[in-house]
Amino acid sequence: MTNIIWRSHPAPSLSGTVRVPGDKSISHRAIMLGALADGTTHISGFLEGEDCLATMRAFQAMGVAIEHHGEGRVTVHGAGLHGLRAPTAPLDVGNSGTSMRLMAGVLAGQPFASELIGDASLMQRPMRRVTEPLALMGAEIATSERGTAPLAIHGKPLHGIRYTLPIASAQLKSALLFAGLYAEGTTFIAETGISRDHSERMLRGFGVAVQQDGATLAIRGGQRLTARDVVVPGDVSSAAFFLVAALIAPEGELLLENVGMNPTRAAVVEILRAMGGDITVVNPREAGGEPIADLRVRASRLYGITIDEALVPIAIDEFPIIFIAAACAEGETRASALHELRVKESDRLAVMTAGLHALGVDCGAGEDSMRIRGKAGTAFAGGQVASHGDHRIAMSFAVAALRAAAPVEILDCANVATSFPTFRALAQGVGMQIEESHA
Ligand code: S3P
Repeated sequence: MTNIIWRSHPAPSLSGTVRVPGDKSISHRAIMLGALADGTTHISGFLEGEDCLATMRAFQAMGVAIEHHGEGRVTVHGAGLHGLRAPTAPLDVGNSGTSMRLMAGVLAGQPFASELIGDASLMQRPMRRVTEPLALMGAEIATSERGTAPLAIHGKPLHGIRYTLPIASAQLKSALLFAGLYAEGTTFIAETGISRDHSERMLRGFGVAVQQDGATLAIRGGQRLTARDVVVPGDVSSAAFFLVAALIAPEGELLLENVGMNPTRAAVVEILRAMGGDITVVNPREAGGEPIADLRVRASRLYGITIDEALVPIAIDEFPIIFIAAACAEGETRASALHELRVKESDRLAVMTAGLHALGVDCGAGEDSMRIRGKAGTAFAGGQVASHGDHRIAMSFAVAALRAAAPVEILDCANVATSFPTFRALAQGVGMQIEESHA
């Protein structure tokens, strides 16, 4: 990928309607379950981002016929539970942790060997959280000495286990659920914290019994999936950039349409409201087994808060943009239990702290915590920040420019294409000004 530089400008007011692209988590799962199902799955609202396209290509490389019609429409001709074929080359999933971790679960029980690789960021992210419990199920997966990819997977017969998740991670939970489809007996997965439940919802939609007893899920091996159409809602994690943009812009109002409001995902709305954000949920409804709504959001005076630790896993991807809101909020915002931010596409605590410091914000990170002293009025100096190739950091600082004294230059923005390729166009459509150049 070429290195892209953005120059984002202060703007006086935002207005208009935004329809954010499809949910990344749900788009990945629609390809995966569609591929393993009997029958044909039509997906609409699919996220045309690099991460989800990497998942699509990986399943095509295992012999699954997938037609990509464009504009979010995809047809998956399911190969059935036992219909995947051995790939002839390593499966390269780029920047996508979701692809790698969920596919490790699918591949562990196949009757063939495979290898999962990714870009420089993904090859540094921890994979033992997935490979260790899969090994307890009988899987044979080799990692590097540091517990990172490449993952060399020798498919083996699997058996069910009882496992308590040591971290609130939907990627880990989903990998074990998918491996559980291939296991003899039943796999029991106990959650110690809430994580997004898209896999459970979609498995049930494809006719698989996933039992829930309190915080424990149970899945019996050998169940076949029946194809069904999937309508992917707009991604609340993408909407979050426009939520904060509308709140911190000096004036104006945005309507965000068709936003996924799954209660295991949407805590960003609760957190921003607690800061004083004027957000109205309009027309709540359901699409494809997921709750959705439109969100009306107005420029607001924000105040610093202490963020409830219980909300952290339910807003885990939104912390970079929440930190931008906090820098525009009078008083101090504190958050803790943020350890997982250190192992995302970048070390988001370190990279956000460095960027906020570069723009003159008073803040500090602890090992797993953050403190930000925000300001009403002009909250940021202009200047240059490094996104470290992290899509969510790049978009967060593009939004910060709305309240900056001078333009903000953001380095290394190419990976915005992994989750939100249309971000800049949509932002410009509502009054933001972001120039792009190629380094
Ligand atoms: C995801 C789960 C989360 C999230 C990621 C997508 C998923 O990761 O950060 O962007 O689709 O399951 P963890 O499971 O590591 O928390």
